[in-house]
Amino acid sequence: MNLDFTYQNPTTIYFGKTALDNLSDELANYGETIMLAYGKGAIKKNGLYDQIVSILKEDGKNIVELSGIMANPTYEKVVEGAKLVRDNNVDLILAVGGGSVIDCAKAISVSAYCEGDAWTRYWIKFEPVDNKIVSVASILTLAGTGSEMNGGSVITNNDVKLKMGRIFPSNVSPKFSILNPEYTFTLPKYQMVSGIFDMMSHLMEAYFSGEDDVTSDYMIEGLLRSIINSAKIAVKDLKDYEARSNLMWSSTLAMNPIMGLSKTQDWEVHMIEHQLGAYTDCAHGMGLAAISLPYYRYIYKFGLDKFVRFAKEVWRVDETGKTKEAVALEGIAALESFIKECGIVTSIKELGATEEMLPLIANSTVLLSGGYKALTAEEILEILKTAYAAV
Ligand code: NZQ
Ligand code: ZN
Repeated sequence: MNLDFTYQNPTTIYFGKTALDNLSDELANYGETIMLAYGKGAIKKNGLYDQIVSILKEDGKNIVELSGIMANPTYEKVVEGAKLVRDNNVDLILAVGGGSVIDCAKAISVSAYCEGDAWTRYWIKFEPVDNKIVSVASILTLAGTGSEMNGGSVITNNDVKLKMGRIFPSNVSPKFSILNPEYTFTLPKYQMVSGIFDMMSHLMEAYFSGEDDVTSDYMIEGLLRSIINSAKIAVKDLKDYEARSNLMWSSTLAMNPIMGLSKTQDWEVHMIEHQLGAYTDCAHGMGLAAISLPYYRYIYKFGLDKFVRFAKEVWRVDETGKTKEAVALEGIAALESFIKECGIVTSIKELGATEEMLPLIANSTVLLSGGYKALTAEEILEILKTAYAAV
């Protein structure tokens, strides 16, 4: 492992069917005003909202509600939440939902007491947070982003058509997260498989970088195999607890960011997806899948040995009598078969992209250089065109 690193993880995880039983004890550590932040209504339909509100009331908390947090949360919503926090002197933001709700909660946490425009300071200029940070905790209902145990916060600014991600230091990470796999049972299959590809993509973004022998790569191969195994079970039975619990924990580990330690990491697929999302509002994991296939088929030759290892270790491709190139391509083909078997989208046209959008997306994508090939905007445009023509 050639690169030095610092790693800190302050999030307490309560995992399993009885995880919610720990909420009361945790709440005792915070003041009386709790912001209950959630999405567009899934938690009301499945009864989780009522359970949480009853615990908060029994514990004598004042509840300030922020509802309607949308998938791909907007900076406008962050500003609305930040004002609520200030006006009510909120002690803890309890985010109940998927990555969008938890990301929005973290964004509100750093923005509420920010002097000046938080978007510009924290998501464009990447300034360190020098103001009061409001504590965040989460109750997760969708496995995919890993937001429940990291400092990530991805926010869309519709005024400038930019979707920007920031990994804040660990003091912004949730103080505790409640992970009951049963809460994901009500998720539509479309959202479940989108989350599954998202967690896989986090692992591949870390994996496809570097030449040295790194512990993380072995952990990634193991996690990918576990995800593939559980995904195949979960798509057939959405209520298989064993599969959904493995997926939930794998997802938390995948984007912790423990798997990327001591690696330069790629993340260009995410950068392209973020701009695709800014233009189409598509489900994050679906956009990643549609971009990953043409992207990996374009860059594999620049990191050939790693793509061969991916084929052999993750997909059990038999290399006997084959060239490295053939083995690498067989690995990517196995990834494509898996994507199709799960019903994950492979065309960005299906996600709402139009031909006119493609150059706009390509030209606004952040260019990174941690992977095996630093791309230009022109190369990204070609990848987008292939993802657009795919079926
Ligand atoms: O709005 P509600 O009613 O809650 O419905 C949501 C939403 O429509 C629904 N849903 C969630 N849990 C459910 C449920 N429906 C039924 N039953 C349940 N149990 O699912 C829809 C999508 O939810 P969302 O939170 O948007 O999905 P996800 O968890 O995939 O989050 C995506 C966001 O996270 C960002 C993405 O860019 C995107 O904005 N990311 C965050 C990262 C991080 N913090 O580290 C890293 C990722 O790479 C990613 O960029
Ligand atoms: Zn992601």
